Amino acid sequence: MHNFASALAKAKAGTILDRQAIGALLAAGPEESQELFNAANQIRHDHVGDKVHLRAIIEFSNYCRKNCLYCGLRRDNHSIQRYRLTEREILNAVKTARELGFRTVVLQSGEDLYYDAPTIARLVETIKKRHDLAVTLSLGERGRDDYRDWREAGADRYLLKQETADEHLFSIIKPDGSLQQRVQCLRWLKDLGYQTGSGNMVGLPGQSLATLAEDISLMRELDVEMAGIGPFLPHHATPLKAAASGDLVLTLKTLAVTRLCLPQAHLPATTSLCTLTPDGRKLALNCGANVIMPNLTPAGVRDKYLIYPQKADIIEQPEAALKSIQALLAELSRPLAQDYGHAKKTPGRSF
Ligand code: 5AD
Ligand code: SF4
Repeated sequence: MHNFASALAKAKAGTILDRQAIGALLAAGPEESQELFNAANQIRHDHVGDKVHLRAIIEFSNYCRKNCLYCGLRRDNHSIQRYRLTEREILNAVKTARELGFRTVVLQSGEDLYYDAPTIARLVETIKKRHDLAVTLSLGERGRDDYRDWREAGADRYLLKQETADEHLFSIIKPDGSLQQRVQCLRWLKDLGYQTGSGNMVGLPGQSLATLAEDISLMRELDVEMAGIGPFLPHHATPLKAAASGDLVLTLKTLAVTRLCLPQAHLPATTSLCTLTPDGRKLALNCGANVIMPNLTPAGVRDKYLIYPQKADIIEQPEAALKSIQALLAELSRPLAQDYGHAKKTPGRSF
């Protein structure tokens, strides 16, 4: 049996937490939660410092072959207008990001096979040749050969959230795939030398604290370099439209415990968290987060990448977003990182 105090003491001492201890931290009551957030903030400071890294996200296609129950881009949602950016449009958005000072671009899309492996490889190669930028891909599940070709073309990182580590829940909310296959993709990515990101949603219907503890354990087992943690938000044109939104405090607790378990990881203040509450960014930066991912998708299509409703970054122009980020970081005395923000290797890592 673990109680909160002993689990937190272990975490602070750097002991690896088992699922029970992780569960005890996630079950923190109101006063304990503040203690948990402070501990996560301290561990973040000690291991990755105060700098905050910016990643420009470019959502270049909202077509998707999958039918995830929670997501507005699911293939059966015929009420959204689909778009695909051309290579030239994507490269223009990348150029804008570089001109605004970003050091990383994240190319994200639904699972859209229209962009075949050579097209993506060419795009990555062109970006690396033209700009001094780290490139992150977030294109969903593909074969190992595709991942290898993109890595060889110069891609630095890949984001593929597990969404949930509960096999049964996974098969319900992601009916086109399996947790096993997704974890296989994550292992391939790690093996190919990508800095690999996973993550989950907090508050999915049918989820429990034990499921969340499982999520954090899986991310630690995979030794991911990044983890995106945000609340589930119901989308009106999906089968989960009547479900409740994820809870704010539970999302923050999940973020904080992830920081305790993965001290070196890059953890973003997610857009979904900012959609749930306007001060989401500040709350996240104070309990373990060290990354912000502003939206650089061209204005003409930005409102069409609606994975969930009222996405916080849709109306905001990049320049205005940067201004408000700078003001927030000044308030928190957190400097803006100027380097690529590559993940630190965990000691003993095999590559
Ligand atoms: N609520 C919260 N997050 C969502 N995502 C997709 N749909 C939703 C939703 N309804 C997240 C998933 C996915 C990322 C692109 O957006 O975690 O990985
Ligand atoms: Fe497609 Fe990803 Fe949305 Fe699933 S979560 S429907 S794979 S965009």
